[in-house]
Amino acid sequence: MDALRNDRIPNHVAVIMDGNGRWAERQGLERTDGHRAGVESVRQIVRAANDLGVGWLTLYAFSSENWSRPKHEVELLMSLPEAYFEQELPEAIEKNVRILSIGRDDRLPPGVRKSLGHAREQTAMNSGMRLVFALSYGSRGEIVDAVSRLLKDHEIGAIDPEAIDEKTFAAYLDQPEMPDVDLLIRTGGEQRVSNFLLWQIAYAEIVTTECMWPEFRRDHLEEAIATFRSRERRFGLTSAQVRGS
Ligand code: FPP
Repeated sequence: MDALRNDRIPNHVAVIMDGNGRWAERQGLERTDGHRAGVESVRQIVRAANDLGVGWLTLYAFSSENWSRPKHEVELLMSLPEAYFEQELPEAIEKNVRILSIGRDDRLPPGVRKSLGHAREQTAMNSGMRLVFALSYGSRGEIVDAVSRLLKDHEIGAIDPEAIDEKTFAAYLDQPEMPDVDLLIRTGGEQRVSNFLLWQIAYAEIVTTECMWPEFRRDHLEEAIATFRSRERRFGLTSAQVRGS
């Protein structure tokens, strides 16, 4: 691990934590047990990413589409963040990790909003790894909300349409300072980006793994980072241009 640390570590790692339900069903458990087990993977991966020197870690914890799942599953998923923050906040504070979130907070139950708000406040001054929870998040919704905020600024004359470029637009997204994703990991064996960070994943390297999220551990993260490091990132240029630069 020491050899890996800071040696071309992706600055922003984003993870689609898929496969909780299938993992549970395969062991004759309830889908909700899979989500509970997934929290342990969150703990371990947050710790590992921080040890490795990742700058930003964004985790897809609940999508806008997940609201349509069966009521008892939604309720269980909504009970997890509160307990997680209560347990993990001291370690985040100690390790200088800053907790942030993206997504439509207003749909979250009051308990989740409160614990998330508390975690954000308590870590607001931290300057280490940014740990972003995507909760009630959909990328299309985020982009639409950004357009809406931008139009409001235009209405009050705070923005000149001629001056809008990609950088200006990105500042209207949920986390204005979030850098582009370098490495997007999807567990659970499927090859989709779903509705996750569509703006931010332009040029991200995508690594999918058969491993179900409840079994995803530090070794898997290190393997994904090793794959990332073996890729040539061209950002639309030719290989010769990249090598010459
Ligand atoms: C997708 O698996 C996963 C989710 C919908 C939820 C992910 C949530 C966690 C891992 C826990 C979050 C924890 C905190 C602390 C916020 P799936 O159920 O769609 O899996 P399947 O494809 O096998 O059905």
